Amino acid sequence: MISKNDYDARGWDVLPVYSSWLPDGLENEMKAHPEAAGESAVGTRNLLFSLILSMRPKSILEIGAHIGSGSVVMGAALRANGFGNLYCLEPADHYFKILNSFVDKAGVAEHVQPLKLFSTDRALLEHITEPLDMIFLDANHTYSHALADIKLSDQLLAANGILILDDVGPVMSAEMCKENNGGVRQALIDYASGRDDLQVIFLEPPFWLNPCGIALVTKQAIVSRLAREEKKVPFWRQFAKSGVFGKA
Ligand SMILES: C[S@@+](CC[C@H](N)C(=O)[O-])C[C@H]1O[C@@H](n2cnc3c(N)ncnc32)[C@H](O)[C@@H]1O
Repeated sequence: MISKNDYDARGWDVLPVYSSWLPDGLENEMKAHPEAAGESAVGTRNLLFSLILSMRPKSILEIGAHIGSGSVVMGAALRANGFGNLYCLEPADHYFKILNSFVDKAGVAEHVQPLKLFSTDRALLEHITEPLDMIFLDANHTYSHALADIKLSDQLLAANGILILDDVGPVMSAEMCKENNGGVRQALIDYASGRDDLQVIFLEPPFWLNPCGIALVTKQAIVSRLAREEKKVPFWRQFAKSGVFGKA
């Protein structure tokens, strides 16, 4: 396992997997932008990009898009799939303008829809009319806001959907909480405790190469799912042309 003795040889820089899917120079331009502070880490974007390529989701929500460092990467993955839509919530005027310009520059506007809304705004439900496959929650880090956003995500997420939460690192999460109440990490632990239909994985620093940490949650009652599949042929078998799922 990784220990302090390995730190120098291992290094701390994560290589981006998505660079060749973005226009030349855009990554550096976004990184150097005067409003870049607060952007997601490369490892987080790698994870989002790979999940989208691997799972070909139809609908994604990003809560807290900032200037779009994660949005353009997710948009590039959707464009590569030629399928799917990302809604990006960003309520701050100045960030929203920059977000829109970077979405355009990245050439992903066909798949990415920035919405100038808080997660608490009821108008969100005019846009999201069916359960979501993925949600990337990266907004307000105080406990009560995070708890409200996790509850909203639970309501909006489809069965077997994935929620990815940033800023759940064991030390950082508490430090980022203005209510001094443990932040996003504690909100997730409290919300998911006793819920056997929510499977939570924390990717923890230093194995996860960023102190902000990351968490994955799937909405999946594993025991009852096995029982359900025994009863009938799953509908998706009829759609899988490659035969990888077996015959219907
Ligand atoms: C850490 S930044 C997001 C970084 C971005 N996801 C990325 O990949 O680079 C957090 C953003 O969340 C926004 N925000 C704060 N509260 C929000 C809320 N309730 N709903 C939506 N966005 C929110 C802030 O304006 C800020 O731009």
